[in-house]
Amino acid sequence: MKPAIHVLADADALFRAAGDAFVRAARDAVRESGRFTVALSGGSTPKALYTSLATDEALRAGVPWAGCEFFWGDERHVPPDDVASNYRMAHEAMLARVPVGPGQVHRIKGEEADAARAAADYEAELRRVFHLGPEGVPRFDLILLGLGPDGHTASLFPGTAALADETRLVVANRVSQLATERITLTLPVLNNARRVIFLVEGAGKAAILKKVLQPVPGAERLPAGRVQPRDGTLVWLVDRAAAGTTDS
Ligand code: 6PG
Repeated sequence: MKPAIHVLADADALFRAAGDAFVRAARDAVRESGRFTVALSGGSTPKALYTSLATDEALRAGVPWAGCEFFWGDERHVPPDDVASNYRMAHEAMLARVPVGPGQVHRIKGEEADAARAAADYEAELRRVFHLGPEGVPRFDLILLGLGPDGHTASLFPGTAALADETRLVVANRVSQLATERITLTLPVLNNARRVIFLVEGAGKAAILKKVLQPVPGAERLPAGRVQPRDGTLVWLVDRAAAGTTDS
C-alpha cells in the first residue's frame, strides 16, 4: 500500500494533525475492541504531541484514556529516570499528567544491565498483553515512529543486526554508530500494525526524508523505508520544512 504523505504548514499544524489522528485511532480502537494499543516513539519530535495530548483541552477530552495500553517502539539502554530515556520523556510530557494507571504503561526496562534480558522481558510482556502464543506477532492499533538523520526508525539503524531479525518481536541491537545498545521492536512487529504514523519535522530532515520517500532505484532501502504495514495504513505527517517546500 502506498504511504499517505500529508504536508502540514508548520510544526504547530503538524502536531495538531498528529493529535487529531491519535484521538481518532484511539476512539476507533476502543469502540471496536474495547482497548487501544499504541507504541510511542522516542527522540525529541513527538514530545510536542505528547504534551498537547495531555494539555490541549479538546485532545485530552477526546482520548479514551482508560482504554489505552502504552508501549514503546524502542528504548535506550538507560534507567527510566535518565534524561535519554524515551519512557521518561513520554512520562513527563504526558503519562504523569493523564488518568492512566501503572498497569496501562508497559515500558522497556532499560535499566536491566543485560539488554538482551530487557528485550526478552519486553517480548514476554507483549505476548502477555496481546494474548499471543510463541509464534504470534502483536498487531498494534497504532505505532508512532520518527525518522533519524541516517534513515533509522525506532532503533533500527542502517547496517545493524536487528534489521534482519524476522523471528523475534524485540531485540537488543548493537548500534556501533552510537557505541551503544538499544532495545527495539523488529520490522515484523512494525509491519503488522493497523496504522503506522511517522512524524517528521524541520528542514534538518528534508534530505533524509527525500531519500526515504524517493529511493534511488536499486539502492538498498533505508530502515524507515522498510516500514510497509502488510495489512495496515502508513501515514507520513511532515511539515513543509521537512518536505523541502519552504526555505525556512
Ligand atoms: C529514538 C527514536 C528514534 C527517533 C529518531 C528521530 O529512540 O531516538 O526511537 O528512532 O524517532 O532518531 O529522533 P528526533 O525526533 O529526535 O529527531
